[in-house]
Order: sequence, then C-alpha cells, then structure tokens
Amino acid sequence: MKGIILAGGFGTRLHPMTQVLSKQLLPVYDKPLIYYPISTLMLAGIKEILIITTPQDIYNYQNLLGNGENLGLKIFYEIQNQPNGLAEAFIIGEQFIGTDDVCLALGDNIFYGNQLQSILTDAREKVTKEGKAIILGYNVPDPERFGIAEINELGDVISLEEKPNKPKSNFAVVGLYFYPRCVVNKAKQVNPSERGELEITTLNQIYLNENRLSMKRFGRGIAWLDTGTTEALYEASNFIRSVQNLTKQKIACLEEIALNLNLINVKSLNSYLKSKGKSDYFNYLRKITKSYQN
Ligand code: TTP
Repeated sequence: MKGIILAGGFGTRLHPMTQVLSKQLLPVYDKPLIYYPISTLMLAGIKEILIITTPQDIYNYQNLLGNGENLGLKIFYEIQNQPNGLAEAFIIGEQFIGTDDVCLALGDNIFYGNQLQSILTDAREKVTKEGKAIILGYNVPDPERFGIAEINELGDVISLEEKPNKPKSNFAVVGLYFYPRCVVNKAKQVNPSERGELEITTLNQIYLNENRLSMKRFGRGIAWLDTGTTEALYEASNFIRSVQNLTKQKIACLEEIALNLNLINVKSLNSYLKSKGKSDYFNYLRKITKSYQN
C-alpha cells in the first residue's frame, strides 16, 4: 500500500501565520506538523509516501525530508496548484499510486494513543483482503460540526452526512482514509461541489452506493487532534509537550519509528546524527542510539 499526505491548502484560519508558510511546516511543540501524519503512515506499514503541496511550499518540504532515505522510506512530491479538494489527491497521485491500494492522510491531523498501530494495520489489511474503502471514526460530543457516518453492527457505513442538523450518529469521519486501487478512477467521477471542490465525501458516497464502505472506530485510548485553528494548534502543542514530558518518550519521532520498524539501523542513524544540531529532538535520538550500543 502507498501513502499520500495532503499538505496544501490556504490555511486561512491560521493567517497571518500561514500567509507565507505552509500550515504543515508550523511547529507542533518540537517538530513540524507534517511529522505527525508521516508517523501515522509509517505505523500503518507504508514505506512509499507522496507529499502533495503548493507550488510555493514544495521546496521547503523537499529540503526538510529529501527522498526519505534517512527514514528508510521513499518520499515523492507533487504540486496541487489550487486547493481543489481532497479527492484531487488521487488524480494528482495517479502515477504514484499505480496498481496499489492507497492511504490518504490529511497533513494537519494528528493521531496518538494505545493500539494505534494495530488499528491502522487492520484497516490496511481489510482494504487489501476485502477490496473495501475504510474510513476512520472518532466519537465526538458535537457531531453537528463534522462529517458523520452512520454504521451497522459490522461497521458497514449506512449513511454519510456533512455537518448534519440532526446527526444519525456521533462518529466523525477523521482525516485518514484507506482505499483500494480503483480509487483513481472513482475520483475521476467526482464532480466539483457547490464550493468548487472535489469532495472526499462524494468519493466515499460512491463506495457507499456500491456497499463497499466500512468504518473502523478509534476507541477511548486514541487522541485525535486537528490543528486547523490557532487554539487547536496551541492545544496540540500543549498535548504533545505534556505527554512527552510525562512518558519521557517522543511522539512522531520519525527516526525512532524507522529504527523500531527496522527501516534503518543504529549505524546509519548515528552517522546521520553527526550532521545534526544539539536540539532536544536530535539529542533524544542520540540517547536512543547509545542505549542500543550498551
Ligand atoms: P482544510 O482544513 O479544509 O483547509 P486549509 O488547511 O486550507 O485551511 P483553512 O480552512 O483554514 O483555509 O484542509 C484540510 C487539510 O487538507 C489540510 O492539511 C490542507 C489540505 N488540503 C489540501 O492539501 N488540498 C486541498 O485542496 C484541500 C481542500 C485541503
């Protein structure tokens, strides 16, 4: 399975912070926001990632992440000229996707918690085995603010609604979607909505009409953080800081994840760290490599 991260958009709700800098490059406590969706895809077992961003931001992402070899990944880049909607990711990514299944992660969604890796791996396997599209659901107290899915006891989606007045469930659809390979052709069938975007909800509706849409739910042990507003971004930083300080472990430390997944080895990480500064992030990694050597 391949992975796509959508890191474009105008980020208007974060202006002036995002007037000249991509939202997904803003810091969430000690690392750029994009590290978090990259970690999500890595935990799902994905090794090839396409980052889609704006013409003005692409060089920053390339400078930051390169071709991914330091993480044992292959990272590719494409431009989205205008924020034409989430479903456009599959049209832009057509060549990259090829004949593989694909997971789309929104660049500004953070997931953290117990069992995250197994939920993601399960979703991935279900797509491959059953040829279904899988969306992820999060129990929210204020469903009127979200895209909501109604599901049966098997997790099959029965209906989808955008910001409903009378919600049929409390399960919000989060910014992480798993699709079988046919998604490119289906995305091409999506017409622009009233606001002129290729909506992911319309794409999901196509799968729903074919009875091929399931939802996996995140339980209480998982935190889902959106970072679209100043307050949400600040809260995300606070959350990451608190959890990291309490657990003495970093969240979304990509090199650590790569090491744990055997995508890189201690020797290569050590030589990579030689060129890095004395930041808290890189010092944490230095400690980890030392513990491997002892
Ligand atoms: P949004 O939060 O819908 O849009 P935005 O990030 O531009 O923010 P604002 O509403 O403040 O203007 O986007 C969700 C994520 O998807 C975010 O990471 C940006 C990304 N995105 C794209 O990359 N391309 C698109 O066409 C759209 C609509 C969003």
